[in-house]
Amino acid sequence: MDILQSIDRTRLPKHIAIIMDGNGRWAKERGQDRVYGHHEGVLSVREIVNGCAEIGIQYLTLYAFSTENWNRPKEEVNALMELLVNTIRKEVEELKKNNIKLHVIGDIESLPEVCQRELAEAKEITAGNNGLNLILALSYSSRWEIVEAAKKLAKDAMEGKLKPEDIDDKTFHSYLNTAEFPDPELMIRTSGEYRISNFLVYQLAYAEFYFTPVHWPEFRKPNLYEALLDYQQRERRFGKTSEQIQTTPQHA
Ligand code: IPE
Ligand code: IPE
Ligand code: MG
Repeated sequence: MDILQSIDRTRLPKHIAIIMDGNGRWAKERGQDRVYGHHEGVLSVREIVNGCAEIGIQYLTLYAFSTENWNRPKEEVNALMELLVNTIRKEVEELKKNNIKLHVIGDIESLPEVCQRELAEAKEITAGNNGLNLILALSYSSRWEIVEAAKKLAKDAMEGKLKPEDIDDKTFHSYLNTAEFPDPELMIRTSGEYRISNFLVYQLAYAEFYFTPVHWPEFRKPNLYEALLDYQQRERRFGKTSEQIQTTPQHA
């Protein structure tokens, strides 16, 4: 049977988060510059975004540039920023047409002004869409996000807007960059690394992790479907026993 047909559309994750890794290695294996890998990676981004939209995923978060990535050679950082601007410029009409709404998380003010402008414009153009929510993590790291949330919480507490004893999981979540999104149920990392590299540490608390050796520029729709099938074969117990899960629906 066709792999797409095997996916149960009633049990899809609402939110998929992806660490798009391996562009550099993929390029090096082909005797090319790392930046060539980033360019090819954009084709995978386009295909996975469309694949998620077609199948009915509601939220897709892509880790595109981490806080730590600022430490890469200047030429690579510049090339990535340029690629970001050009890609957004080129793809925004397609996003609009496909009913995709763009969001950005991370320390956006640290990005070059031209990137900030392009992102703000694309967000505005797609603001009225209500299909797939595409969330780009840019100059993002989880520890940065959590520390920022703690600062805002402390400030609000000092100003008497909330009492420390009233802070619960829900309150804390509302201070994160991802406040308006549900937590991802599935996290995919390409290129064979088994780590989360400062990505959505708080939000991935109960996510299912899927690791594949495939480098990001080669990760295409069939690979996404494989990940979804793998996810659907898992039993998500949330601390309960298997017997308890089997008597109550998992994806209510
Ligand atoms: C992911 O690929 C893209 C970014 C982090 C921007 P890498 O550039 O990390 O590729 P590898 O891991 O070095 O192969
Ligand atoms: C994580 O990939 C960041 C992005 C995919 C944007 P890295 O390649 O930077 O992660 P490490 O350094 O290998 O953990
Ligand atoms: Mg990498």
